[in-house]
Amino acid sequence: MKEELRKQIEAARTAINAAERQHDLMQLKSQFLGKKSDLNGFMMRLKELPASERPAFGKIVNEAKQQLEELINSRLLKVKESEYAAVLQAEHLDLTMPGKRNIRGALHPITQTWREIEDLFIRLGFQVADGPDIEDEYHNFDALNTPADHPARDLSDTFYIEGDVLLRTHTSPVQIRTMEKFAPPIKIICPGRTYRNDNDATHSPCFHQVEALVVDEGINIADLRDMLNYFARELFGPEIAVRIRPHFFPFTEPSAEMDMVCPKCMGSGCSLCKDTGWLELGGAGIVDPNVFEYVGIDSEKYTGYAFGLGIDRIAMLRFGITDMRLLFNNDLRFLRQFK
Ligand code: DAH
Repeated sequence: MKEELRKQIEAARTAINAAERQHDLMQLKSQFLGKKSDLNGFMMRLKELPASERPAFGKIVNEAKQQLEELINSRLLKVKESEYAAVLQAEHLDLTMPGKRNIRGALHPITQTWREIEDLFIRLGFQVADGPDIEDEYHNFDALNTPADHPARDLSDTFYIEGDVLLRTHTSPVQIRTMEKFAPPIKIICPGRTYRNDNDATHSPCFHQVEALVVDEGINIADLRDMLNYFARELFGPEIAVRIRPHFFPFTEPSAEMDMVCPKCMGSGCSLCKDTGWLELGGAGIVDPNVFEYVGIDSEKYTGYAFGLGIDRIAMLRFGITDMRLLFNNDLRFLRQFK
């Protein structure tokens, strides 16, 4: 029996020393020291021994129980420590490590220019009007006094979708849509996307214009000139002058094209302005009475001016971009430069 006890204790020691988890140790404790454990069994079997040996053997069993209990407790401490160390290791936070980079986006140069133009006109009391990109011939051409045989209606310039439905070739139809809805005084701008069948370094099939329309009593060409000058100076600096040249548009009479002093050479001539000293900004004019006729505004009482500018060209000038296609390629290496 002594030999059995020795083996039992030996087995218990080995198992306890090998235990790696608190849970396992608890199980070993009940297995070796619990009521139904083998060690307790030895106590029951004391009577198998000669009476003279019983006290000594009982003492050995009790001591063994005590030792095993101590062993379990000290092992438990070690296991707890190493479990804690493992948690610390797993949740280790290196505060000196470089952080994750947050890549900040930037507004597209066209968006930046668009918003700047909007802000400028809003400060002057203009409202921002909107119209559909998909237009009909009536608003894009007819009501703008553009006759059926006008070359701009040609398929080679206009993207027709179906029948008389097309992608608007300019933002001018928003003039019509606004005047259909509201009576004078009207003071609006309309920035938006426009489409033409054109594609090279200075033309894109999708481009952006901002339209302006002012209708009230006594509006004249001096008001238009004043506004254009103000606009150019706000965007490009106080030295920038604007000139208007006679031109033709079906929806304005008289019509003009406007140029501004080349901001790169300030008028002395350079490659940007092709040595002319001037850059073309867009079209303008005094609203043709025929247009008022279409929308039911009394042309005896009211006059108005309108203009349309290319936003992309303005963005290119402001940021020194020479190829318009860069604005539409969405190459991140290009776009990141405009933060
Ligand atoms: N819609 C013209 C174009 O796209 C530009 C233009 C000219 C707009 C004269 C106007 C204007 O409002 O009065 O070429």
